[in-house]
Amino acid sequence: MLRISAFRLLGRTRASRLSLLEDFSLRHYSSDPLGVREDTRDARAYFTTPIFYVNAAPHIGHLYSALLADALCRHHRLRVPSAAATRFSTGTDEHGLKIQQAAAAAGLAPSELCDRVSAQFQQLFREADISSTDFIRTTEARHRMAVQHFWGVLKARGLLYKGLYEGWYCASDECFLPEAKVTRQPGPSGDLCPVSLESGHPVSWTKEENYIFRLSQFREPLQRWLRGDPQAITPEPFHHAVLQWLEEELPDLSVSRRSSHLHWGIPVPGDDSQTIYVWLDALVNYLTVIGYPNAEFKSWWPTTSHIIGKDILKFHAIYWPALLLGAGMSPPHRIYVHSHWTVCGQKMSKSLGNVVDPRTCLDRYTVDGFRYFLLRQGVPNWDCDYYGEKVVKLLDSELAFALGGLLNRCTANRINPSGTYPAFCTTCFPSEPGLVGPSGRAQAEDYALVSAVATLPKQVADHYDNFQIYKALEAVSSCVRQTNGFVQRHAPWKLNWESPVDAPWLGTVLHVALECLRVFGTLLQPVTPSLADKLLSRLGVSATERGLGELHFLPRFYGHPCPFEGRRLGPETGVLFPRLDQSRAWLVKTHKT
Ligand code: MSP
Repeated sequence: MLRISAFRLLGRTRASRLSLLEDFSLRHYSSDPLGVREDTRDARAYFTTPIFYVNAAPHIGHLYSALLADALCRHHRLRVPSAAATRFSTGTDEHGLKIQQAAAAAGLAPSELCDRVSAQFQQLFREADISSTDFIRTTEARHRMAVQHFWGVLKARGLLYKGLYEGWYCASDECFLPEAKVTRQPGPSGDLCPVSLESGHPVSWTKEENYIFRLSQFREPLQRWLRGDPQAITPEPFHHAVLQWLEEELPDLSVSRRSSHLHWGIPVPGDDSQTIYVWLDALVNYLTVIGYPNAEFKSWWPTTSHIIGKDILKFHAIYWPALLLGAGMSPPHRIYVHSHWTVCGQKMSKSLGNVVDPRTCLDRYTVDGFRYFLLRQGVPNWDCDYYGEKVVKLLDSELAFALGGLLNRCTANRINPSGTYPAFCTTCFPSEPGLVGPSGRAQAEDYALVSAVATLPKQVADHYDNFQIYKALEAVSSCVRQTNGFVQRHAPWKLNWESPVDAPWLGTVLHVALECLRVFGTLLQPVTPSLADKLLSRLGVSATERGLGELHFLPRFYGHPCPFEGRRLGPETGVLFPRLDQSRAWLVKTHKT
């Protein structure tokens, strides 16, 4: 009977660590007032994207997977000052029947196809500002060594045996399928052809002697892992789905193919007649990147968060944790799952000719604009639909008008002729509504704004922990709207700097709005890094003042000095985000100051 000694749940989750740092209260002012900075002693984090198949050029769905991981990773870096504490890997999945067949169809050697398409992914990710620290290709020697070592460990632990595999195989999805998951559809010649029920891709009957992994032994350990760590797979419906799958029988898994059939892959150590199954090969990439089998991987592995699409959940939430447990390691710390992008209501596919090229989108909507769109509109629990007009509408209203307009209103020469961060007047805006005296001008809604922006960083951090980045952006956007309402309410353009009655209040209104903008700029860094840099630079916020630990929103309100008061604004006065649709004059009217 197999004993799984290394099966141990990880310590407190990041979310629970955060919840220990109590809610932000107007009375508290500590070195981490917002409760979002990580304890630097256990601040390491390792984020991964899936590695991408190189059979075809990248599309927006691939970019979305990478962007989600990028935003999570960048948000983590905002919490943890030391860059060395974070790793972020992506790469290309280059072996297997799918690539072997795609290369043959294109009349290329597999290695040529791999070089060509892997370069396209690397270029896309550079252009899209994906801040990965590692790019792995499964055709690299370091990876072959890691996979063969991993295989050796499974073998030594008695988890591999040779047996006859007979069943359906889907080369497009690189997976084995039981009869119940196969249906018949009319093929190009009108004959009924067997296809995968889930993906609709063709399947073929396979009968050969392979190495088989004793997956069936892991059903209960996997159930214990998931029941003991309800956030292991996030969002919850995916966690639930995996537990449901584990209610059914879990057959052993064929983990090699005959080399005469599949030559494009890593040979089984000591048996050249067999090639290692591409999913086993691919999953080990997560270990290769952190130095496996050298000991250094051990300090990174427990901090791993995989970001994956829902179509590859079974591989990451069943096969991979079982393989890891079999090799004496713990399952991944977190598996964050997202849904898919459709285009005008249809699945994206080469055959339908509706594949959206992400590089065209980055050109058309700008890098930050397209990043914002995908992350603001992409809801992990459900599929999302893409069409160009939606992008223009969202970016114009939220980035160009609401955010860009707000910045412009508070920094324009006409309103802020000194070009500085004005002083905050505590008698105009005392720390409690009850203290508003004759010179006080703040109203109940203004206190609501301060409270909303003060709690925003914690709210955003919670959304990141729950893999709801769109909700984090929704919360920021709602505060931007509230701040525009604040400025509109007090109409600083009607106040006069020359009047001793108006001036302190005018300065206070601008100070509060600039403080709100500083919070928005800081929190938008993971999603729109260049736009946030432009915004923070315009506010005069230096590079060392942009972390969550340094945020300290509106310190003067809480009786503390504000390092920005009196500081010169940055010299760059250009437009924060360009309007994409110049023809919609009605929007200009509603946002006019
Ligand atoms: N090579 C495997 C992953 C191996 S990881 C050890 C693979 N590659 S893939 O290129 O097909 O998909 C990579 C990622 O892109 C997956 O997370 C997948 O869900 C995602 N997407 C592919 N199409 C997508 C959409 N239409 N929308 C959103 N994401 C989608 O699977």
